[in-house]
Amino acid sequence: MKPIIAPSILSADLANLERDVRLCEEAGADVIHVDVMDGSFVPNLTFGPGVVAACRRVTTLPIDVHLMMVNPEKHLEAFAKAGADVLTVHYETCPHIHRVLQTICELGVKPGITFNPGTPITPLKYLAGVFDQVLIMSVNPGFGGQKFIEACEQKLRDTAALLDEIGSEAIIQVDGGVDTDNIARLFAAGARNFVAGTAIFGHPGGISAGVASLREALG
Ligand code: DX5
Ligand code: ZN
Repeated sequence: MKPIIAPSILSADLANLERDVRLCEEAGADVIHVDVMDGSFVPNLTFGPGVVAACRRVTTLPIDVHLMMVNPEKHLEAFAKAGADVLTVHYETCPHIHRVLQTICELGVKPGITFNPGTPITPLKYLAGVFDQVLIMSVNPGFGGQKFIEACEQKLRDTAALLDEIGSEAIIQVDGGVDTDNIARLFAAGARNFVAGTAIFGHPGGISAGVASLREALG
């Protein structure tokens, strides 16, 4: 399948969010990644359903919402109503992860599960069929512009092997420190969906050049 480029609007110019989201779509990005942070599970505080609804109004791209929050089950319906196409929850914040993923599916949204860099992916063995996407965090969540954690390349390989073992067709997404230097290696390790904030919104040539540079690096 064609690699998916998912700009993270955490790094966008928030005073010109409509412009930046439209530029991502015109640049050929595949998905808009929205990093929701509650200031409790992660130290940063960012967006709510209102920003998802605003993005929904200005792009036709799927909106991929990454919920870095405690008790995400309390907010699933609001994000679904706002227009989220994918809702990804942290395994670490969901004692009832199987039920939360089922609930996302019942809302008509694609369920995603994500793990912090140090969290084992073993639970995937018992969740076959209730997730469509698995997000491997390659930085400690909370901020853009961090350095890729090299051990996560092997974690991507381990995830691909485990999905194969359980017969899951879920897409592997990687998020954090993805850039032109590592994206081809991450694709080879099994990632097919690439979240990028700094590499796109911080590119000296602008958003279009940022998206193009990642596509080029993928070959
Ligand atoms: C970090 C976020 C990432 C981040 C990626 O908690 O989940 O999506 O915005 O930003 P870069 O690509 O700059 O590491
Ligand atoms: Zn993210």
